[in-house]
Amino acid sequence: MTKTPRVAMPSAPARHGDDLDDAVRILRAGGLVAFPTETVYGLGADAANPEALHRLYSVKGRPASHPVIVHLATGDRDAVARWATGLPPAARALADACWPGPLTLVVPRAEGVPEEVTGGSATIGLRVPDQPVAQRLLARFGGGVAAPSANRFGRVSPTTAGHVRADLGTEVDLVLDGGPCRVGLESTVVDCSLPGPLILREGAVTRDDIESILGHPVELRTDGSRPAPGTLASHYAPRARVVLVTDAEIRSRAAQLTAAGQRVGVLTQQHAQEFPAGVEILEAPVDLDELAHALYGLLRDADVRHLDVLLAVPPPSLGIGAAVADRLTRAAGPSPQPGR
Ligand code: TXA
Ligand code: MG
Repeated sequence: MTKTPRVAMPSAPARHGDDLDDAVRILRAGGLVAFPTETVYGLGADAANPEALHRLYSVKGRPASHPVIVHLATGDRDAVARWATGLPPAARALADACWPGPLTLVVPRAEGVPEEVTGGSATIGLRVPDQPVAQRLLARFGGGVAAPSANRFGRVSPTTAGHVRADLGTEVDLVLDGGPCRVGLESTVVDCSLPGPLILREGAVTRDDIESILGHPVELRTDGSRPAPGTLASHYAPRARVVLVTDAEIRSRAAQLTAAGQRVGVLTQQHAQEFPAGVEILEAPVDLDELAHALYGLLRDADVRHLDVLLAVPPPSLGIGAAVADRLTRAAGPSPQPGR
């Protein structure tokens, strides 16, 4: 759809491996490279190339008004100045404390940043990821890499190279395989473009972390009143209907739905023998970091097992538990797709 030369054969499956020279060549030619980060896999394009960004949006199936995060190499302070008018004090403090890491800062954008990156807004989202393959790619490429999560719009973010291939197949020119993502949930997004910083998306950098770095309370604004696609209710959803329940009711709900002929799965720490026969058990780790790490694989598993309904108990809002509960709530939200 663009003049972009595709390095991979269009009919061949996307190649994988830590093939950084190819990846850099593809990015420079306006192609798309999926790469691992510590949060989820990103679908990368040269952030300075509007044509590459158009292709990125079309492969992702995402509305053009939604901004994308620009990923930068660690230690490249000049890079920040190319994309932003500088970091406001709160953003500077957060960057110093958390970069490289799972934190995206929304700051006033610099002149000349393509509209396709910012979704037409006066701000830009910047992140320095903490993942060796991503860092080598960014350092060799030498520019900003725009990358949304490497899934189709509205679907569960990929946390392995296999997930990316399953979602995007041959539409991506290269998939760099860095193994499973350490964190497993998307980065925390903090809007620092206004005097009072706001958390737009929760993640591994928690509200407590942010408040202790800044030394004052910080509000959450994750209700979608800001333009942030990751904050739509219905994001992060598998095809199975996700229903949030309490620990006390999960067995009786599973029994009712099974009796009604539904194919039911439970995302739970309870023992398999406590559920009626036929209920699929998706074992949820007790440790909250491990749960975050496993969550998207478990949601995909619900679809692999062709579940009609997945019953899930949200974890306590401690540490990364808040972000896990947030994603489960969105997965249980109203569906944008017909027939689900
Ligand atoms: O962990 C992550 O953030 C992953 C990896 C690949 O870095 N990326 C990711 O990208 O999750 P995406 O596009 O799926 O989500 C980016 C989030 C969205 O909620 C978006 O609205 C917000 O960041 N965002 C980016 N730039 C923004 C801006 N200028 N203003 C407000 N929100 C912005
Ligand atoms: Mg996403």
